[in-house]
Amino acid sequence: MIASVLDTSIDSLLGYKSFVVSDYDKRYDTTDYYWGITPNNLCYEIMKLRPPVKPLKVLDIGCGEGKDAVFLARNGYIVTAFDLSETGIEKGKKLAEKCNTYVDFFKADITDFRATEYYDIIFSSGVYHFIKLEIRRAFYALP
Ligand SMILES: C[S@@+](CC[C@H](N)C(=O)[O-])C[C@H]1O[C@@H](n2cnc3c(N)ncnc32)[C@H](O)[C@@H]1O
Repeated sequence: MIASVLDTSIDSLLGYKSFVVSDYDKRYDTTDYYWGITPNNLCYEIMKLRPPVKPLKVLDIGCGEGKDAVFLARNGYIVTAFDLSETGIEKGKKLAEKCNTYVDFFKADITDFRATEYYDIIFSSGVYHFIKLEIRRAFYALP
């Protein structure tokens, strides 16, 4: 709560330097989609392995500009997605709007984020290496 009031991360509050030096905000600050809008092949794997025959909740961690989150939402999943980059999140929202679908996009830092609800599928592409070794296991042990 203190970190949120001060608009900072828990790491900064405790005096740790953020381990992520990210220039993604800059990369995403264009009209084009930096990673394109073609979904990752893993999305098709998800559809094969866990087809959305009943409402399935997906969490996309480090969603970037949202291409995969939007694709999954368009295909019947209930999608929540977050990223450190505000610019990425805004572009994700625009993409969802353009595709007439909805994704619960928000800005968050992996190191601070703690899931408060159950997700059927945890999706994350190109992000794992940003998570500190010592918290990787704990992080993915979501409720
Ligand atoms: C290689 S990109 C992949 C983006 C997206 N998953 C995709 O495949 O298009 C890595 C993403 O991880 C995000 N990221 C890096 N560190 C993060 C952190 N601590 N918390 C949340 N997102 C983070 C970056 O902002 C960036 O959007």
